[in-house]
Amino acid sequence: MFSITNVVYFFAERFKHAGGGRKKIKAALFPCYRMVCKSLWHFKGKLYLYHVELPVTQRCSLRCEKCSFMMPKFEHPVDYDVAALLGYMDKLFDCIDVIQIFRLLGGEPFLYKDLDKIIDKALSSPKVKTVDIVTNGTILPGADLMEHMRDPRLTLQISDYGELSRKKDEIKAACDAAGIRCVLRDEKEKTWFDAGGLEFRGRSGKELKKQMKHCGNICRSFLNGRLYYCPRASFGTKLGIPDPKSDYVDFTINQPREQLRRQIYALNQREVLSACNYCNEGTEDFVPIPVAEQVKS
Ligand SMILES: C[S@@+](CC[C@H](N)C(=O)[O-])C[C@H]1O[C@@H](n2cnc3c(N)ncnc32)[C@H](O)[C@@H]1O
Ligand code: SF4
Ligand code: SF4
Repeated sequence: MFSITNVVYFFAERFKHAGGGRKKIKAALFPCYRMVCKSLWHFKGKLYLYHVELPVTQRCSLRCEKCSFMMPKFEHPVDYDVAALLGYMDKLFDCIDVIQIFRLLGGEPFLYKDLDKIIDKALSSPKVKTVDIVTNGTILPGADLMEHMRDPRLTLQISDYGELSRKKDEIKAACDAAGIRCVLRDEKEKTWFDAGGLEFRGRSGKELKKQMKHCGNICRSFLNGRLYYCPRASFGTKLGIPDPKSDYVDFTINQPREQLRRQIYALNQREVLSACNYCNEGTEDFVPIPVAEQVKS
């Protein structure tokens, strides 16, 4: 039924390996992604999201200065409540028709003691086509957790930060032995960029529209029951940038399913977002930086 979405997946996966050129390709293909979502919604009544991320914790075993989730800026990092997260996931899965990639991360997801339950829930929905877990390669998951990860729809992605990812080879070997799909993504594939500080940039509506188009972000952030357009918006609003109700879909309150579906669709098609005025992505100031440099204390 969703063969067009398989085409989107095929190309998007190939472009993951395009290193620094990935940003340009992403921006060029962004209108096509929107068009696919729009067509599915209007002609087939289907709500399709390519990529949704679920952070389970703000805690991390590394302190990367330019972390795009800004984790080191959280002075008192918290784990998100597992019962609440499972409930929000149920609601989200009930609302959508397809999520191509559902990505579990943190902070560092292997610090979260209930990750097994989150994995099971993600894999329980046939609407979720693939599940990724993204780890920084510092923590070897226990045998029990590995059992929950053994599924043909799940891939463990290890961000390879060189020596910082001190357990990466052990994790990879353990996954290979257990029959768990696992990929190491080094800096050739994973160029890092600096989105700048959280200060207000004073851009006009027209400038923001252009910026968002260049940014081409297709990765929605499901932060503790609120679906945001991107991680910059979700975590940025927890660090003080404005958090207007119109910029997220709220699963923490009761709303009719159809209303939620319309809001998700509209969020996915947004052309302006207030968080963009606190971000450099999509502008010339969004520059490549060394991967995972640690905060100097
Ligand atoms: C925020 S991390 C969370 C998961 C885990 N802690 C890790 O580092 O892999 C999620 C992804 O964002 C990437 N990332 C973090 N900061 C980045 C930046 N400034 N530019 C590009 N990617 C970044 C990481 O490499 C990782 O693939
Ligand atoms: S990018 Fe670095 S600081 Fe950010 S969550 Fe991953 S390991 Fe932690
Ligand atoms: S805040 Fe705007 S420019 Fe920055 S990542 Fe999100 S959508 Fe892109």
